[in-house]
Amino acid sequence: MGVTTVTDVRHTVSVDGPTGSAAPDSSSALTTLFASDQGGHEQVLLCQDRASGLKAVIAIHSTALGPALGGTRFHAYASETRPEEAAVMDALNLARGMSYKNALAGLDHGGGKAVIIGDPEQIKTEELLLAYGRFVASLGGRYVTACDVGTYVADMDVVARECPWTTGRSPEAGGAGDSSVLTAYGVFQGMRASAQASWGAPTLRGRRVGIAGVGKVGHHLVAHLLEDGAEVVVTDVRAESVERVRARHPEVTAVADTDALIRSDLDVYAPCALGGALDDATVPALTARVVCGAANNQLAHPGVEKDLADRGILYAPDYVVNAGGVIQVADELHGFDFDRAKAKAAKIFDTTLAIFDRAQADGIPPAAAADRLAEQRMAEGRRA
Ligand SMILES: NC(=O)c1ccc[n+]([C@@H]2O[C@H](COP(=O)([O-])OP(=O)(O)OC[C@H]3O[C@@H](n4cnc5c(N)ncnc54)[C@H](O)[C@@H]3O)[C@@H](O)[C@H]2O)c1
Repeated sequence: MGVTTVTDVRHTVSVDGPTGSAAPDSSSALTTLFASDQGGHEQVLLCQDRASGLKAVIAIHSTALGPALGGTRFHAYASETRPEEAAVMDALNLARGMSYKNALAGLDHGGGKAVIIGDPEQIKTEELLLAYGRFVASLGGRYVTACDVGTYVADMDVVARECPWTTGRSPEAGGAGDSSVLTAYGVFQGMRASAQASWGAPTLRGRRVGIAGVGKVGHHLVAHLLEDGAEVVVTDVRAESVERVRARHPEVTAVADTDALIRSDLDVYAPCALGGALDDATVPALTARVVCGAANNQLAHPGVEKDLADRGILYAPDYVVNAGGVIQVADELHGFDFDRAKAKAAKIFDTTLAIFDRAQADGIPPAAAADRLAEQRMAEGRRA
């Protein structure tokens, strides 16, 4: 296997956080890699294993708080320009996002992320995953990998055969398994904090909550909300997902699509499907006073966080409230203890409230306040 370490520069604190700046795609990867205003990453590893067809990028944004932790995305990058360039940019942006997420989750981990280039349906083999594991292992623990889009618990079990710095494994292989249980629990805590900030009590009792996407995370969230006394309305492009929820909880109502959901009379909107849920079309149409959900990268472009604030809608930053999953995989590294991980995920309530307080004090949207708090923790970690 060939290892190319592109750079290993010490971390500099970014002035702009990841909020609304997820894709500085007008820049080249090398500009993003070195420029502190776009990230200032520590290290990038380009990996190729000809025998298995593996091409991968491992990006370490920061190890200021500890070993970089973040998942492995397996994606085809059908870019009109060069797919490799798109993959590097994705890895850089995702790694940077993980630094912020891990910092605010209170984890002693920096941010990193890997991407494997190619269609997982076509090229994912045991040989390829083992080769990938050897590359992650070559970093000697500076980067700890886990699942992301296109990789699953079973894949991490394979990677772990070559690499001890692998988490998100199955219980049979000594791991914690599916992370959606604690992700949903963390989103619920963020929603309770949002209720406290909006209506003066940390409960969704009597509130109408609309969930777009009732997959792994969304359906667990339904259960928390019903238990808390909320009225729940859901939508999903997959009829089976809705039917599963309605079979277990007949009191839940369903609407045809996300557009119908956000225009219906809601107190809280919970995007739990794909990224980009909040854009120039959806924000003006929202009836909800609170947005809090599991989906990653909910803000479609920079400025949406301000549009939400201008409309008096409280936005609980996605990467803060959906950190239950990364809290789980970080705990697994110490021998998984569900109660310990759940206690840590419960702190998402306090963190979300602290972000709202900071936003009010600084006169900025909560998404920007989250970035500031994360940068503060990274800077303190570096000094310690
Ligand atoms: N699983 C985790 O632990 C975790 C952790 C952090 C963040 N997230 C994020 O949370 C979101 C949900 O994750 P998940 O694990 O539940 O995924 P999932 O694939 O199990 O569920 C997503 C659901 O959304 C539905 N969906 C897709 N497009 C839709 C649309 N346009 N309108 C309505 N429904 C739609 C799908 O049919 C599916 O049922 C994703 O954005 C994911 O990145 C998940």
